[in-house]
Amino acid sequence: MDLYEYQARDLFAAHGVPVLPGSVASSSDEAKAAAEAIGNQVVVKAQVKVGGRGKAGGVKLAKTPDEAKEKAEAILGMDIKGHTVHRVLVAEASDISEEYYFSFLLDRSNRTFLAMASSEGGVEIEVLAVERPEALAKVAIDPIAGVDKALALEILKQGNFPAEVIDEAADVVVKLWETFVAEDATLVEVNPLVRDPQNKIIALDGKVTLDENASFRQPGHAALVDKDAEDPLEAKAKAKDLNYVKLDGQVGIIGNGAGLVMSTLDVVAYAGEKHGGVKPANFLDIGGGASADVMAAGLDVILGDADVKSVFVNVFGGITACDAVANGIVEALKILGDSATKPLVVRLDGNNVIEGRAILAEANHPLVTVVDTMDNAADKAAELAAAGA
Ligand SMILES: Nc1ncnc2c1ncn2[C@@H]1O[C@H](COP(=O)(O)OP(=O)(O)O)[C@@H](O)[C@H]1O
Ligand SMILES: [Mg+2]
Repeated sequence: MDLYEYQARDLFAAHGVPVLPGSVASSSDEAKAAAEAIGNQVVVKAQVKVGGRGKAGGVKLAKTPDEAKEKAEAILGMDIKGHTVHRVLVAEASDISEEYYFSFLLDRSNRTFLAMASSEGGVEIEVLAVERPEALAKVAIDPIAGVDKALALEILKQGNFPAEVIDEAADVVVKLWETFVAEDATLVEVNPLVRDPQNKIIALDGKVTLDENASFRQPGHAALVDKDAEDPLEAKAKAKDLNYVKLDGQVGIIGNGAGLVMSTLDVVAYAGEKHGGVKPANFLDIGGGASADVMAAGLDVILGDADVKSVFVNVFGGITACDAVANGIVEALKILGDSATKPLVVRLDGNNVIEGRAILAEANHPLVTVVDTMDNAADKAAELAAAGA
């Protein structure tokens, strides 16, 4: 989960990373009040989960509270790279002597954590990374050893941080590492990390990504979810503990096991080419125990998607045998009753497949077509979706 800047700022503050006074506002009047409370020059900053706000005109200086109101009026509702601005952060304006870059992130390809640092931070960091990569230090972090002050100093030295501020900046880096670990983040980025005329180091802009796999031990993170921006079907699936991702096609997909579901998406996309280009409508892995309740919850989410014209249930019976899954499908259709309206193509294979298919044949539900192979089932589901579209 990506956070807004104001949420990242709150986390930084909670972990002792120096930030500027500020508060978030969703109307221009609130922005004016926030500026009055700060009692100084402020910057009004668009809160959208995309970088380059400064260049897009989403960060503006305001000398007075009235000016903050004016700037907020201009920024609220603005479109920045396809993201509409619903809130602004009103933060004290800082005198900036220098802008640096610092981040910790999960480096998936190297299976480690990585620190990146540069004394040349600011809005051109992407250009710097491409044109002069040597100016951006990259240091792998041992997750067990972590980051102490000595290592922080070493990273900043490699990033060319000036001697006058390196010691204070290293203290901030240690706190950023504490934030990264304590909050189960996969990214903590500060750009710019600034030096003010008094040589104080301040995190002026923050970007944080939290690892949702850790949410079971981070009860506080639920409050950070942006309910307005969440896809309603994904939110519904999440509430039912389903691994669901909305896609933009017409064939609803249910499978057991992420690998099987991924390959189901492929065969449906391939089969869809022969049927007017229909595509998979979602990813949904109902996992090992395909009980009637889980099957009903999954079907309920998928049938709630207005784009869905057919559903492909692709299950390989392993620990949960095919007869249990078949019973699950039959029961699920009973639970859903009249709200099940789209044709279902079912492919069952694996443990107890004969019994499973017999249960579906016996139930003889008018919406259900049983097809023996995955390719033929995908073709049937795509054909039905094309016919219903
Ligand atoms: N509180 C602030 N005081 C003074 N200048 C700021 C402040 N916040 C941002 N800026 C300036 O605006 C630039 C862009 O702001 P930033 O928050 O980094 O947004 P983005 O990275 O999305 O462009 C910064 O590099 C900095 O020069
Ligand atoms: Mg920035």
